[in-house]
Amino acid sequence: MKDIGNLNEILFITGNKHKYSEVLPIARSLGFKTVMKPGYKLEIQSDSLEDISITAAIEAYKYLKKPLMIEDAGLFIDALNGFPGPYSSYVYKTIGCDGILKLMMNRTERYATFRSVVTIIYPPFIIVERGECRGSIAYEKRGDKGFGFDPIFIPLGEERTFAEMSVNKKNVFSHRAKAVRKALYKLRKLLEALSDINLNAP
Ligand code: IMP
Repeated sequence: MKDIGNLNEILFITGNKHKYSEVLPIARSLGFKTVMKPGYKLEIQSDSLEDISITAAIEAYKYLKKPLMIEDAGLFIDALNGFPGPYSSYVYKTIGCDGILKLMMNRTERYATFRSVVTIIYPPFIIVERGECRGSIAYEKRGDKGFGFDPIFIPLGEERTFAEMSVNKKNVFSHRAKAVRKALYKLRKLLEALSDINLNAP
């Protein structure tokens, strides 16, 4: 990897320490130093994860004026026409995993998708990347790791739920890992190009 000096520092705007622990090893592997910054994520009401992620990033940047990354995710269940989707946070707080299992009782169609949208603001660059993880809703909660709907989500090709996996194993499949990897990889390439231009400037 080319040296990008101290251009590698970036804030990760979240109050969720689980999300941070998932993002940290990915950022490190791409040469970035991430610092968790809670308390700056504005949650607008929208049915688009893109709108939520991009708006939250812009609002956080207005206050912090430092390179930052923000992520918004949701669980889209096929048999429930994509519910809870962009409302996952509210639905988790109100009915939780047990409520979803109840809604899914007697349903044999159990496919679902986790989606993530990552926005990075690192002037002059703005990067928006998406990641998806296809899987199914378990019949009962399993595992005590992770957060949110992890105990009821089984990624395709696995038998364990996310809550039964280590962070590294979850990162092999997860929507967030895919989106973060793509976004930080793109940023790294742009910063390398920027350093080259600056080094070769007359
Ligand atoms: P957020 O708005 O990006 O924090 O995500 C909305 C909600 O979706 C969270 O409160 C979680 O309940 C759920 N969620 C998002 N990503 C995950 C995940 O990786 N595992 C489990 N639940 C998740």
